[in-house]
Parts: sequence; C-alpha cells; structure tokens
Amino acid sequence: MKLAVIGDIHSNHIALETCIRHALDRNVDEFLFLGDYVSDCPYPQRTMKVIYEMKRKYRCTFIRGNREDYMLDHKNDPFERWTYSSASGNLLYTYENLTKRDLDFFESMDIQGMYKREGYPAFRYCHGSLTKSNELLRPENEKLEDIMSSLDVNLIISGHTHIQESTVYGSRKLIHPGSVGLPWYHEGKTQYMILHGNKYKWEEEFYQLSYDVDAVKEEFMSSGIMEKALHWPELILHCLYTGNDCTTPCLLLAMRLCGEAEGEVNWPDIPEKYWEMAFNDVVK
Ligand SMILES: [Fe+2]
Repeated sequence: MKLAVIGDIHSNHIALETCIRHALDRNVDEFLFLGDYVSDCPYPQRTMKVIYEMKRKYRCTFIRGNREDYMLDHKNDPFERWTYSSASGNLLYTYENLTKRDLDFFESMDIQGMYKREGYPAFRYCHGSLTKSNELLRPENEKLEDIMSSLDVNLIISGHTHIQESTVYGSRKLIHPGSVGLPWYHEGKTQYMILHGNKYKWEEEFYQLSYDVDAVKEEFMSSGIMEKALHWPELILHCLYTGNDCTTPCLLLAMRLCGEAEGEVNWPDIPEKYWEMAFNDVVK
C-alpha cells in the first residue's frame, strides 16, 4: 500500500500539481489531504479545481485545516471585519474567490480522522491536533508528551507545522509530512510524503521537489492579491523563494510596535506603518 500525504497547500496549485504528478508516477494507491487547502497564495479556485478533480478520479480522504475554519467562521459571522490590509487582506481576498460549493465542501469535513484498512495498522491523522485545527504538535507545545502518551494507536500524522519531520515518543510516532504550498526549509522546495504500509507498520518516505516558483510569482502579480493584502504576499513570496518563514515574526513585531505606540492592538486593525517597520526589520 502506498499512500500519498498532502498537507498545507495554501492555494499553491502549481506546487500541488507537481506533488500529485510525482506521486502518480510512483503508483500511489490513495491520497490523504491534511487541510489548509486555501489562503496565502492567489487564485484559490485553481487549487479547488485540482482538489475536485482528485476527488473524482482517485481514492482520497480530506480533512479541514484552520484556514478552512477561518473561512467558515467568516461566513457565519457577518460582523467579523476583514479589510484590504496586511493583516486580513489575504483572508478577505481568499474568501472572495471561494464559492458556496467550496464552503459546503469544507463544512462537510472533519478536522481529524482514523485511517483503517483491513490488513494494515490503524493510524490517526489531523491538521493541527485531534481536538483543535490550529494546535501545533511540536515540542514547544507543553501538552505534546501527554497527547502522544494517550494515543490509542502507534502513529499520528499531522500538518500545520510546515516542517517535514518524524519523531518517536516511546512506542508511538508523530509524522509531519511538511507543506506542499508554503514549505519551510529545504530552500522552499515543495514537500509531501508517501507512506508505505504493510500488515506490521507504516514507513514514511519524504520528498522535497523543485517546482516553478516564478510561475507562482506571476500569479501573485496578475491576481490583485498584492494590492489587497499589501505586505502579507511579500512575506509569502519571500518564504516561497527561500523556505524561511517571516510571516509570524513580522506579524508579532508589527503588533508589538503598534501596542507600544498606540497603547492597544486590535487585530486586524494594525496600521500599515507598523507593518512597514516590521517588514523592514524582519525581511530586509
Ligand atoms: Fe494550518
């Protein structure tokens, strides 16, 4: 059994198509998608088109990530204010490019699941953790050891971290397949994994593949996302070309500068001047 595990696409359909072609060349039997299909890169409809095609043609399992949760929360809360800005412009741009079909599809998914096939060991999978789509299963999470020791299976696969790694905790293993669309490290190469299964165990094979980042950049330029999301897409492009994520440090610094100068911070209302200062400090 060969199972391709595809995590954190973030609307990067060009990287997604690269990974799918690579997996099909290796005759995988199934695909497991770990969520965060959309946001950050432009034209989410192009990613969704690939997803629907995959669903039609191959045996696929889908779960929802925190980015899909943000989209559904926005649909359900008309008072949530997203604006064309560095803080929320990327989310608003993404939301504007989704259809009812997309939102219904997201709503139909769970945030986790148990993989069970006769003749293979069962394992659990999730986007963040089994209980929260935005929880990081990494050592900085103080609950990680407890989460691992209370698992009812020997293997858990999770996305959200954008880091490709596999860690053993006693008799249990935690695997992060990395991010297809917004990969960290490995010079920004697109990442996914194939799980090879037999009746005793599953073994991971990690891939990092070169793909056409310049074509993704062209889509950023033609889509209107640069004008709507300001510094955010600049940070995403920086990560795509280098594998170094600056989004979190830049957001945190912009919020700190805003708090120090204004006395309060209300996301997403962070004046652009603080983003500019943070961007210059973190990226340049
Ligand atoms: Fe995520």
